[in-house]
This record gives sequence, C-alpha cells and structure tokens, in this order.
Amino acid sequence: MAEIGTHIEKAAHLLRSGELVAIPTETVYGLAGNALNPEAVAKIFETKNRPHFNPLIVHVPDVPAAKKYVQHFPEPADKLARAFWPGPLTLVLQKKTIISDLVTAGLDTVGLRCPDHPLTHNLLSQLAFPLAAPSANLFGRVSPTRPEHVNEQLGHLIPYILDGGLCTVGIESTIVGFEKNRPVIYRLGGITVEQLQEVIGEVFINTHSSANPKTPGQLKSHYAPSKKVVLGKMEDLLQQYPAHCSGILTLSKNFNSPYQRMLSTTGNLHEAAHNLFQALRDFETMPVDVILAELVEEQGLGRAINDRLRRAAAAEP
Ligand code: TXA
Ligand code: MG
Repeated sequence: MAEIGTHIEKAAHLLRSGELVAIPTETVYGLAGNALNPEAVAKIFETKNRPHFNPLIVHVPDVPAAKKYVQHFPEPADKLARAFWPGPLTLVLQKKTIISDLVTAGLDTVGLRCPDHPLTHNLLSQLAFPLAAPSANLFGRVSPTRPEHVNEQLGHLIPYILDGGLCTVGIESTIVGFEKNRPVIYRLGGITVEQLQEVIGEVFINTHSSANPKTPGQLKSHYAPSKKVVLGKMEDLLQQYPAHCSGILTLSKNFNSPYQRMLSTTGNLHEAAHNLFQALRDFETMPVDVILAELVEEQGLGRAINDRLRRAAAAEP
C-alpha cells in the first residue's frame, strides 16, 4: 500500500524524481506526475490503465503559470479564470509545444486547471513544472474523494498519497473549451452552467459525443461501480427489484432500508455532490445485487450529479 501523509516536501521530491503521487483537490484526488516529463506521463496512463486517446488535465498554481503553456488566453477564458480559479473549472485552450502530444492525446489543445486545495496549491507553487493529473482511480471507475479510496485501487502502484482529507466538492471539474470563440461545456462538474452563464453569457453544452469523445468524461459509460445501477422513480423500481437485495440511492426520500444512502437529507445539492461517490462505493460492500437510484432536479449541481448517475447506469458491471 502507498504511504499516506501530509509531507509536501516528500511529495515534491518524488515528483521531481519522475514518480507519481496522489494529490488532494477540492473535486477528487488526482494521480499526479510531472506534465513535462514524458516518462512520468506514460506512467500515469499505465497506472490507471487509461487508454491513450484520453487527454490529461494539467494543474497549475495560478493564471500566470497557466499562460506559460497556452498560445493565448482568450477573453472569455480570462473572465472565467478570474471568477472561478482556484476552483473546479478546467479550461481547454490552444497548447504550446512544451506540452507534449502524449499529455493531450494528440489534440492541439490542453486542459488547464488551478485546483483549490491548500496542500496542493502549496505543492504546485514549489514545483518548477505543472502536474498532469487525472482522477486517481482505475479507468472507468468511480473517482476517489478520500485517500483510502486511492489506496484501494492504486496503492500497490504508487509510493505516496498526499492526505488532504475529504474532497469538499466531491465531483470533478467542469470542462469548458472554446469553438469559434463560443464557450462549450465538455463535462458538467463543480461549477454550474448557471454560474458560467452569469460570467460569460450563453454557453453550449456538448457532453454526449460518445463516438468521438473530446473528453472521456463524455464516454457514455463511466464512473462505474461494480454493481448494476438502475435509474427510475424509486417507488416503481421497488416494484421490480426486491428491497432486501437492492441498494437504494435517493436525494432525501427515506425508504427505511438498511441498504439505503440519502445524498442529502435536506435536499442540498452541494451536500449531495459531496456525498455521491462515497455513496456509490458504500454499495460495494453491502449484500445487494443492484443499485436503484433516483435522479435529482436537473439544475445547478444537479446536472452534474445526474450526468454521473446516467453514466454509471450505462456501464456494464
Ligand atoms: O476535477 C478534475 O478535473 C479532476 C482533478 C484531479 O483535477 N481530474 C479529472 O481528470 O477529472 P480525468 O482525467 O479523470 O478527466 C479529465 C477530463 C477527461 O474527460 C479528458 O478527456 C478531458 O478532461 N480533457 C483533458 N484535456 C482535454 C482537451 N485538451 N480537450 C478536451 N478534453 C480534455
Ligand atoms: Mg476520471
């Protein structure tokens, strides 16, 4: 198992030596390596068992650092960075050649993000290079929101997990690119559509091109627990699936089952996002064959929560 600790110097030393370290962010834990070191980047793909067509997000401490890796920072991107960095927003911009094709899976753009976590911010500020970091889970599986989740899936493959506690947001960053200067959302996440619109006006959503995924967060099936997930109205689902061997996932409705997880008893979507991935993991150890889940309201963070639930339901266990 990997060592879990809060030693920033140790993490920095390992990263400078080309090793991988799991790092905390406000969204989910990342599997980080030196984005400018091809061997470290190759190790990320190998460790996660991630297909090479799937580009990595590059993490930076601030806007000036981000500007070192892109051709230019268009005005709407600048506005978004000012409004939401550090925070759960990834900006997809034209890359400079210093960012290799391996990182971007051959795309001429790079996804940049400035995460909002004190330990990781401190770490990034000490390093002379940015960190490529996908979520620290095996490809296609549920993202980790605490160090133990990372250790379960990747602990035998990496030396160190920087312990930043529980991820506060709990759902991945929103990914925004620009096509002919129009902002396009490639993945729904911790910054809501409404928040983006307040800053830059109309945004387009394109999260469903599964034939030619711009981002694997766009793959129809992703975020998969090892049990089948079925979506519907809970009362109807419980007519079809026996309650004694079904996991029940709702926002706040209580079905008085020992195999139930409520995402937020008060119906708060921030709390629900924060609890979602832990709840999906909890069903793994329950004696249930199937996870029955209800979608939440399709607004604010509810869109990102529903997106993850739909992709989990589309997966083959
Ligand atoms: O919240 C997050 O974004 C977390 C934390 C660790 O920062 N990271 C994360 O990484 O979710 P990952 O690799 O699991 O998902 C990154 C997504 C993928 O869907 C990838 O395709 C997309 O970002 N992406 C990366 N570079 C891109 C690019 N140049 N164009 C379009 N999509 C890109
Ligand atoms: Mg991921």
